[in-house]
Order: sequence, then C-alpha cells, then structure tokens
Amino acid sequence: MKLNTLRPRRLRRTEAIRSMVRENSLELNDFVYPIFVVPGTNVKEEIPSMPGQYHLSVDNAVKVAEEIYKMGIPAVEVFGLPEYKDDIGSSAWDMKSPVQRAIRAIKEAVPDLVIVGDVCLCQYTKSGHCGVLKGHEVDNDPTLELIAKVALSQAECGADIVAPSDMMDGRVAKIRETLDANDLSNVSIMSYAVKYASGYYGPFRDAADSAPQFGDRRGYQMDPANSREAMKEVDLDMAEGADIIMVKPALAYLDIVRQVRDHINRPVATYNVSGEYAMVKAAAAKGWIDEKRIVMESLLCMKRAGADIIISYHAPDVAKWMKEEA
Ligand code: PBG
Ligand code: ZN
Repeated sequence: MKLNTLRPRRLRRTEAIRSMVRENSLELNDFVYPIFVVPGTNVKEEIPSMPGQYHLSVDNAVKVAEEIYKMGIPAVEVFGLPEYKDDIGSSAWDMKSPVQRAIRAIKEAVPDLVIVGDVCLCQYTKSGHCGVLKGHEVDNDPTLELIAKVALSQAECGADIVAPSDMMDGRVAKIRETLDANDLSNVSIMSYAVKYASGYYGPFRDAADSAPQFGDRRGYQMDPANSREAMKEVDLDMAEGADIIMVKPALAYLDIVRQVRDHINRPVATYNVSGEYAMVKAAAAKGWIDEKRIVMESLLCMKRAGADIIISYHAPDVAKWMKEEA
C-alpha cells in the first residue's frame, strides 16, 4: 500500500462527517445529580469548597428536584446532614431526618424523578467512620445490621434505588435480603462496589461533615494501587445481587471503569466526585481553563471508558449547555 492512501483526516474534515463517525456521546439521561439536604427550612447555602452546590433544607431540595426533572435529568442522589450524631449513627435511619423527609417530599412532588439514597453512616456517627467501631477499627458484621436499616428506611420513604457507599463486606446481600423481606423487591441496589480510599473526596467531607475524627478509611475502602482487587469486589457484589455497579472516583480510575464494563453484563456507573468538581471550578474561576469544554470532554471520556451512568455535580450545567446548543 502506498504510504499516503490511508488518511484518517478525511473523516475529520467537517463537523457533519465527524458526527457520522462519532463513537460515543453524552446524553442527559446518563446523569444522576447529587444533593445535600440539611435540617431547617428555607436554607440554601453555598458549599465553600464546591461552588455552585448548596446545602438545602427539605423545602428547597424539593424545588431543586423539580428543576432537575424539568431540565431532563432523570435522577437525584440524596445525601444528608442529620440533626444529631451518636456512636451507632442512628439518625441515618430516623424517619424524621432530613434525608428521609426529603425522599418522601420529592417522591410526592416529582414522582417520575428517580431517587437514589446514599446509604452510609459516616455523616451520622460521632467518629465520622462508615460503621460502628470496635477499638479503632470499623466492625464489619454489626455495621451490616445498621446499613440495612438505613437502606430500608430510605426505601420505605420512596427511594427507587439505594446506594451503599460504606464498603463493608456482605452489605449488598444483607440489604437485598432486608428489602425483600419487607416487600420492597422492586427497589434496586446501586453498589459502590469499587470505591477507592481517595483524596478526591475532600470537598464532600467538608460538605457532608463526614471526615473521620481519627485515622482514615484505608481499612475498608480500596487501595488506589489495585485493579485485580476491583474485579474481586465486582464479582462479590454481582453474586450478592447488585443491580448497578459503581466505580468511584471517576477520572483517575477510568481504566477500572473499562475493566468493569468488559467484565459484567449489568449497568456500570461512575462517580465524578467532589474533588474532581472542585479542581475544575477553581481553575475555571482563575480563567486558566475553559470550564464548559473541560467538563464536557471529561464526562464524554467517562462514557468512552464504558460508564452507562454518571453521577456528577456538573449535571445541571450540562443540561444548560446542551439546551443552548440544541
Ligand atoms: C460516604 C461518601 C463519600 C462520598 C460519597 N459517599 C465520601 C467518603 O467516602 O469519604 C464522596 C462523594 C464525593 O466526593 O463527591 N461514604
Ligand atoms: Zn461513609
């Protein structure tokens, strides 16, 4: 073959040709938008480390959920800050806590919006750890009982999907068994199956007041150095009945997203976490990057890596940009 007969540039000449051969695209229905619900009424306070994201009381969370639905984003994930904390995190399953009230109110106001409940204890325990302690370690099996209570309370309030982010062993099976025993077999489980012990969660821990009071989460979250171990976590959660498998964080872990996508036949989600968001916002505020371009490129690359679902604080901006372009 003559050296110059194969010319990839022919298919890049115009936007029309490029669009015909484009392999991946972003769609609004790929997205889940996380919200932070707090006690009180009429609260809407910007989170300093996450510009454009807010602490919302239940009344305002409902308003945001309505806007999100109108924008064409199919789902919200509800995180909360409770009224009280104790050793076992009991406000995490208190039916009067902000998360439970928000799920109920949003389900009533916008029944077609998919509600994902984040299931964990770290916002609710005094230690800031994702489970109950035995000495200085998180005790796995007693924590499972509590995690199941949290999932059940959210499902009873109307969550369509519960998403355990605690990284205890066996929690998917425990949650599935508990939901099924309570006539909630229609509620799905999106497992944070592959969740790394990551520095990228920093801004979220400020936002959710969930930083560990001592030590770190390396005793239960995954070592960033490992990928074979990710497949082990995926296999276990698949066997325990997870409906959707999540990889978290997203950007630095797209190789893992690809491996998981090639490994299973259930939907793969990835969480574009707070630190990824904060870095973009900070650089954009300095005028050092083109925010829209960087965000759309990063999210598209998550799709290319194999994500079916993207959980992202950028979702409303994406909706706005897509509308401007249409
Ligand atoms: C709590 C939880 C965390 C995130 C989601 N659920 C933080 C953590 O594990 O410390 C991170 C979300 C983000 O950074 O955007 N288990
Ligand atoms: Zn946690």
